Amino acid sequence: MTSVNTDKLSSARFAEATDAFVEEFTASVHFDQRMAQHDIQGSIAHATMLCASHILTIEERDAIINGLNQISAEIAKGEFSWSIQQEDVHMNIEARLTDLIGIAGKKLHTGRSRNDQVATDIRLYLRSEVVQIAAQITRLQTAILHLAEQHADTIMPGFTHLQVAQPITFGHHLMAWFEMLSRDQARLQDCNKRINMLPLGAAALAGTTYPINRELTAELLGFSAPTANSLDSVSDRDFAIEFTAVASLIMMHLSRFSEELILWSSAQFDFIDMPDAFCTGSSIMPQKKNPDVPELVRGKAGRVTGHLMALLMLMKAQPLAYNKDNQEDKEPLFDTVDTLINCLRAYADMVPHITAKKEVMYQAAKRGFATATDLADYLVRKGMAFRDAHEVVGKAVRLGLESQRDLSELSLTELQHFSDLISADVFACLSLEGSVAARHHIGGTAPETVKKAIQLAQQQLGI
Ligand code: ARG
Repeated sequence: MTSVNTDKLSSARFAEATDAFVEEFTASVHFDQRMAQHDIQGSIAHATMLCASHILTIEERDAIINGLNQISAEIAKGEFSWSIQQEDVHMNIEARLTDLIGIAGKKLHTGRSRNDQVATDIRLYLRSEVVQIAAQITRLQTAILHLAEQHADTIMPGFTHLQVAQPITFGHHLMAWFEMLSRDQARLQDCNKRINMLPLGAAALAGTTYPINRELTAELLGFSAPTANSLDSVSDRDFAIEFTAVASLIMMHLSRFSEELILWSSAQFDFIDMPDAFCTGSSIMPQKKNPDVPELVRGKAGRVTGHLMALLMLMKAQPLAYNKDNQEDKEPLFDTVDTLINCLRAYADMVPHITAKKEVMYQAAKRGFATATDLADYLVRKGMAFRDAHEVVGKAVRLGLESQRDLSELSLTELQHFSDLISADVFACLSLEGSVAARHHIGGTAPETVKKAIQLAQQQLGI
């Protein structure tokens, strides 16, 4: 044993003080103090319920609530002195309460344990963060919609295998990002249903002998209902794992946007201009303008997925009910929330300032034989079987490659050489404009369809 702390024995049960290093090792106050206001909120509801159930007197309840409000103000002003001897946020606040109001402070923990208390605090914390995250997703979606509106008929190449595939509109591409975020938002809200349940009342693991009213506590805290099983309530962190999975999906989506922005802002693509305020230069190469924000976001996607793995591994193989392992849930969860909010915020701030280089996009679509499928479809409409049409167009593309011309630049006679089904009307479908306009079914890239999709999305967001 290195040194012992003799200031405080953690309980009368112990004859020996906690080893000083163990005290530090097991403490969580340096990170769980982030949940202080939620801890106070939970305690006020608990005291209110205890009084309504005649377990505390009105005087005791009022003394507790006043004391907790004072502590809340001390914490908000940064005047609260956190002590490692009090181990965690819960014990720190309770000890201060007893300092302030005496014996009534010692009654707050009646019918409760830190096990159900901490589970409640995390849920209250996460529920409030979900509101912030949802707002940032909506900001980003709004920014995407504005950009999509400006580019509903801006033509660019669509890619598969990162090879030019077919012409699309930039607005359509942006709306694909919008859709991903819509599902992310729906997942977040669905996950919130499972976050928003009250564990308080489960006590240590088996419930309590006091005549508590869990419905009342749930109502006071705005939870939809009390949890159904006390053992499950104090032990499972699946709601936090699920939240981190939702966060990982959002980060994966942001990482995909990032990858495209990075590629598109390179000299090789040159499709977009990234706003200077979101890029940095190089300390050695004067010409550089690096897309740091998307690169960092792409990197941080790995970090959040790492937290998801950490939480899954933390939970696996834990026997019922509470185990101290669960104290390890907080740092990955907090970092997930911070990282996610920062990345969404950076994106929502940045997207409105991205400018598309329409002419470059247009020329790129022209260079890649992007309307080859349209020519095949044209032949099918004239009666040829699709596989034969595929073959014919392949030959036409070869001629284009050899003579460095797009299909639309081949002459009618040259095209007719490949099939006598081809006539002058072919050029309408070989143009990029004709190609996108023809895809006007639900989900297609035609400018008119994209405009409809944008309108629907605006209604969805209520903007
Ligand atoms: N700091 C603990 C945690 O984060 C609070 C619960 C402690 N409970 C216990 N029985 N030691 O999980």
